[in-house]
Amino acid sequence: MEKKFKRTLITTALPYANGPVHIGHLAGVYVPADIYARFLRMRGEDAVLIGGSDEHGVPITIKARAEGVTPQDIVDRYHKIIKDSMEGLGISFDIYSRTTSDIHSKTASEFFRRLYDNGQFECKTSLQPYDEQAGQFLADRYVTGTCPHCGNDRAYGDQCEACGTSLNATDLINPRSSLTSAPVTMRETTHWYLPLNRWEENLRKWILDGHKEWKTNVYGQCKSWLDLGLQPRAVSRDLDWGVPVPVEGADGKVLYVWFDAPIGYISNTKELMPDSWEKYWKDPETRIINFIGKDNIVFHCIVFPAMLMAYGDGFQLPDNVPANEFLNLEGDKISTSRNWAVWLHEYLEDFPGKQDVLRYVLTANAPETKDNDFTWADFQARNNNELVAILGNFVNRAMVLTHKYFNGSVPERGELEPTDTDAFRDINTVADNLTSALETFHFREALKEAMEIARIGNRYLQETEPWKVAKTDMQRTATILNMALQICANIAVAFRPFLPFSSQKLQDMLGMDEPYWVQLGSDNIMPAGRTLAKPELLFEKIDDAAIQAQLERLDRIKQENKIKNFKPAPQAPDVDFDTFMKADLRVGTVLECAKVPKADKLLRFLIDDGMQQRTIVSGIVKYYKPEDLIGKQVCFIANLPPRKLRGIESQGMILSAENADGSLVVIGPSAPVVPGAQVK
Ligand code: 2FM
Ligand code: ZN
Repeated sequence: MEKKFKRTLITTALPYANGPVHIGHLAGVYVPADIYARFLRMRGEDAVLIGGSDEHGVPITIKARAEGVTPQDIVDRYHKIIKDSMEGLGISFDIYSRTTSDIHSKTASEFFRRLYDNGQFECKTSLQPYDEQAGQFLADRYVTGTCPHCGNDRAYGDQCEACGTSLNATDLINPRSSLTSAPVTMRETTHWYLPLNRWEENLRKWILDGHKEWKTNVYGQCKSWLDLGLQPRAVSRDLDWGVPVPVEGADGKVLYVWFDAPIGYISNTKELMPDSWEKYWKDPETRIINFIGKDNIVFHCIVFPAMLMAYGDGFQLPDNVPANEFLNLEGDKISTSRNWAVWLHEYLEDFPGKQDVLRYVLTANAPETKDNDFTWADFQARNNNELVAILGNFVNRAMVLTHKYFNGSVPERGELEPTDTDAFRDINTVADNLTSALETFHFREALKEAMEIARIGNRYLQETEPWKVAKTDMQRTATILNMALQICANIAVAFRPFLPFSSQKLQDMLGMDEPYWVQLGSDNIMPAGRTLAKPELLFEKIDDAAIQAQLERLDRIKQENKIKNFKPAPQAPDVDFDTFMKADLRVGTVLECAKVPKADKLLRFLIDDGMQQRTIVSGIVKYYKPEDLIGKQVCFIANLPPRKLRGIESQGMILSAENADGSLVVIGPSAPVVPGAQVK
């Protein structure tokens, strides 16, 4: 029999405050968690949605160092951007706090201390990479060097991204600090370790026997970890940013960010409900759900539960961890460091009033079972063909017809016909499917079901044709429009968790009070005689120009990344001076320039070289308009043997530089010179 719960505590992974949030975070964690919280609240359940920024960890200190500001400056900046933008998207957090709060430091510190006092840690001394110049220990990620497997000279101390091998910093050849580029030395340091191995059996029972219902991606990852056997994990770091290790003699050491971050869920609950937080964590009748991305599974299903087991005192483990896979952007992995993302705060500026469009697209495309791709073309298509053409269109037709035939007042209905009852029978089936999809965290499917109600509405109007019936039978027209408005009200209920802004607008047009989930499926939500507000469009088409602007932004970012990552080709072997001097390099003025017919790469130049006009054929058509080159001065090699290209004799070669993106830029003098001047 299904266990009954009195309340639900919904946590969302705390995003690192070293950058804004992007669509990947939203699709993976915040939108589904918000849908779920709104759904439970609409059922009248006690559901609390907890969020906050993760403000510790090495990357924040590195960013601060790079910008010449303090880590606190960095987290203050991004915490605000994240908090404001999440609110802008309607993520209905009961609290969105931060791990630099006092209450968090105290809670995390006390948590560590209790484990320490109860002998739950092992203390070990080991050699760790150290940067003498920066005067600090380095996490493996911040050591770079040459991969011993493939020779890539930009391998990280934890992994070589060229060949995919997992590494330790000590494996690298010529290890250097990525903070200062100084050579890395090894120093002894002491840390506390949580012996996960002590909890292995309990974890196996709890997950592998007790939670077979978890999503297969989550269950599978846990099983592989457990099958490999658990090892002690360090829970402290040598760093000056974080919660200090509350043990004498631990100066310069802080709690590892992954130790303090999940405790953030507890401290944020405490901050929200100072008097009653404990029942949300310690009462077995509370259900805890952790919304996270797949990279966080081990921390939420293995490490944090082991911490809670070690703490004891009645702390409950999560009931479910519906982790999602990743969302890509236009076929590429989303990346904060490469700026390859759609940032929420920018979206809200670029598409004001269109929060629900993003919520819709991210849910329809949620990476629930596999990685998925966000494309701007899909975003536009889903808005124009689904939200506008199906949902908005149905609501608008029902509203406009009611205004036209009944002055905007909900008409009294007469006897129902099979078409009417069939429509509501279908809506009730949909309502059941929708509810069970939401209960089991299948949000994509749930959204499809909600959309089905609008499709049923459109079919209903198509079949009943009230605009035709109105010519002969106003009584029947009244019944049809009454039913159509009941369908609109069902839409307002069904979409409220997914599209809260549009649903609110629809409720206002229909004059509805705050809806409850139990209303779903009812054909009696709208009382006859109620006056409707003026119809307004729920969604508007998104034109090509708006999409084009986003695609151009992404193109610019791609180019910028190519330039940033540009690695000059290795220097060619030496050439002796006399050989080099044999090349006769000169400057000429372009007299004519035209595309070579039927050759997609070639331009034909006529050059004034001071003595004669010479023809040179060059493969730079992709990068220049021929007319832009006329009158320009270019460098060319004058003494190459002539060569036929597409039947044209080319008498030399124009010099150009190859840019990071592979484009070619013609080389010329920095000030005008006489045609024929030699390059020396
Ligand atoms: O992966 C991340 O972005 C982490 N900041 C998530 C932390 S979740 C929780 F434990 F706080
Ligand atoms: Zn390698």
